[in-house]
Amino acid sequence: MKRFLIRSLFVSLFLAIIGIQFVEIDRTNPPVKEDLNAPSEVKNILRYACYDCHSSETKWPWYSKVAPISWFIVDDVEEGRSHLNFSEWESLDMAKRRELKNKIIDEIKDDDMPLKSYTYLHPGASLNLSQKSILNKWLRSVDY
Ligand code: HEC
Repeated sequence: MKRFLIRSLFVSLFLAIIGIQFVEIDRTNPPVKEDLNAPSEVKNILRYACYDCHSSETKWPWYSKVAPISWFIVDDVEEGRSHLNFSEWESLDMAKRRELKNKIIDEIKDDDMPLKSYTYLHPGASLNLSQKSILNKWLRSVDY
């Protein structure tokens, strides 16, 4: 009886995991409006560490197609883009760019970005001191 119950539990769990794969989620990349204009050393860092959540050029890894992990990833990308999307940067007005610039400076200083959940799977995306200094120098030099 106990063995039967355990087996039924595993079968239900297995079926549930299969079932949730059919829940439709939006894993799309909207068109790039006007990408950030910055020196290539700055762009390379941002592309590597931030663009998966803060651009319309997200590279979706294989596990982003597997529910329920995919739900968390899509959530982060949608929220990330809604706060800051480098693919729309050049069409933002100066005040908005200035506001975001200051937020980026703060996030980098406090090591809050990239999110820990991201660097856990992309260890190379954590910013090292020289990358931080390249970003800071550029952020402080732009005139907005
Ligand atoms: C795994 C996805 C992910 C990555 C990678 C990521 N972010 Fe974020 N970012 C988010 C999410 C989600 C939010 C909104 C929630 C929050 O603030 O924690 C956010 C918020 C921000 C904000 C705050 C915007 C506001 O309006 O308050 C800034 C600035 C920011 N990120 C900069 C960066 C920078 C710079 C990088 C790369 C060094 C980066 N992020 C990498 C997901 C990400």
